[in-house]
Amino acid sequence: MNRAFITGITGQDGSYLTEFLLDKGYEVHGLVRRSSTLNRSRIDHLAGNDRLHLHYGDLTDGVGLVNLVRSIEPTEVYNLGAQSHVKVSFEMPDYTASTNSIGTLRLLEAIRASGMSCKFYQASTSEMFGSTPPPQNEDTTFHPRSPYGASKLQAHWVTINYREAYGLFAVSGILFNHESPRRGENFVTRKITRGVAAIRAGLTDTLELGNLDATRDWGYAPEYVVGMWQMLQADEPDDYVLATGEGHSVRAFCEAAFSHAGLNWQDHVVHNDMYERPSEVDALLGDATKARTHLGWEAKTTALDLARLMVDSDSAELEMSLKK
Ligand code: NAP
Ligand code: GDD
Repeated sequence: MNRAFITGITGQDGSYLTEFLLDKGYEVHGLVRRSSTLNRSRIDHLAGNDRLHLHYGDLTDGVGLVNLVRSIEPTEVYNLGAQSHVKVSFEMPDYTASTNSIGTLRLLEAIRASGMSCKFYQASTSEMFGSTPPPQNEDTTFHPRSPYGASKLQAHWVTINYREAYGLFAVSGILFNHESPRRGENFVTRKITRGVAAIRAGLTDTLELGNLDATRDWGYAPEYVVGMWQMLQADEPDDYVLATGEGHSVRAFCEAAFSHAGLNWQDHVVHNDMYERPSEVDALLGDATKARTHLGWEAKTTALDLARLMVDSDSAELEMSLKK
C-alpha cells in the first residue's frame, strides 16, 4: 500500500493533499504539533477515516523524526511543515531557519539513516527568487529577500544534495503563491477577502494593508497539491515550478475582491506601515512550462477567479457565524 507521511498536515496545503491522497487510496500519516488547544480545523472533517493517522512531532525535534520515519515506513514523504509567513520570519529568524532549513535536513537525514527507499517532496517557494525580475523558472538565479526565503533556499539545496549524494528520489516543487478559502488569515489574499466580507456585513468599515504595489502569481491550492504528487510519480527526480503565468498587484486583487461584493476598495483600504517588510519581493510571475511539458500539470484557476471564490466563501462563513 502507498503510505504517505506529511509534515504540515494541519496547514492549507497539507489538508488538500491529505484529501487528495486519501481519495487515491493512500494511508496517510501526518505530523501534528502539540498545542494547548487543538489546531486541526482544516482536517477535522477527515477525522474517523481509518487510513488517516496523526502523530505528535515537530521539525525542530530530530530524534522524534527519526523514530517516526522508522515506525511509519512511508513510501512518500511530503515536507510541507514550515514557519511560512515572510513578515514573521523577520521577527523570528532563528526559529524560521531551525524549522525550515534544519528541519528539512533533519527529515532528510532521518530518511537516509533509515535506509528506506521512500520518495521525498520539499515545499520550495518562489520567495527564493526574491529580487530577480520575472518571469522566473527553474533556471532563474535565486536572490531571497527575507529570512524565510533564505531558509527555504538552504532546504532547497540540501534536497538537491541528498539526491546527488545519496541517490534519494528527492524533489523540490518551486511553488508560486497559492490560495484558497483555507488560506491562513494573515496572508494578504485571505486578509482582503475576510475584510470584504466583514465590511459588507457592516461589522467594520476599513481594512489596513501594507504595500499594494507588489505583484504576485496567485493560483488555487487544490490544483497545486496535485502537482506535488505528480512530481513524485515521475520517472526521474527533478525540480519544477508551479505557477499560473499571470501576475497581479495586491491593489488589483483588492479591486477584484471589493467589486465582487459591490464595494469600491478605495473607500475602505487604509495604509498601515506595520504591514510593510524590511525588504520586499516586488514581482513574482512564474513560467511553469517544464511542469506542463513533463508532468502535464497546468493551473486552471486565475487570481481573479480566486478573489471571487474566496469572497463568497468568507461571506458565507461569516453569515453562518452571525446566525449562530
Ligand atoms: P501553512 O498553512 O502556514 O501551514 C504550515 C504548516 O506547517 C502547518 O501545518 C504548521 O503547523 C506546520 N508547522 C509550522 N511549524 C512547524 C514545526 N516547527 N514543526 C512541524 N510543523 C510545523 O502553509 P501552506 O500555505 O500550507 O504551505 C505549505 C508549505 O509550502 C510551507 O512549507 C510553505 O512555506 C510552502 N509554500 C507555500 C506557498 C503558498 O503560497 N501557500 C508557496 C510556496 C511554498 P500548525 O498548524 O501547528 O501551525
Ligand atoms: N501578509 C500581508 N499582510 N501582506 C501584505 C499586506 C498585509 O496586510 N499588505 C500588503 N501585503 C503584501 C506583502 O508585502 C507581499 O508583497 C504581498 O502582499 C503578499 O504577501 P503574503 O500574502 O504575506 O504572501 P508572500 O508572497 O509574502 O508569501 C507567500 O507566498 C510565498 C510564495 O511566493 C507565503 O505563502 C509563503 O509561505 C510562500 O512561500
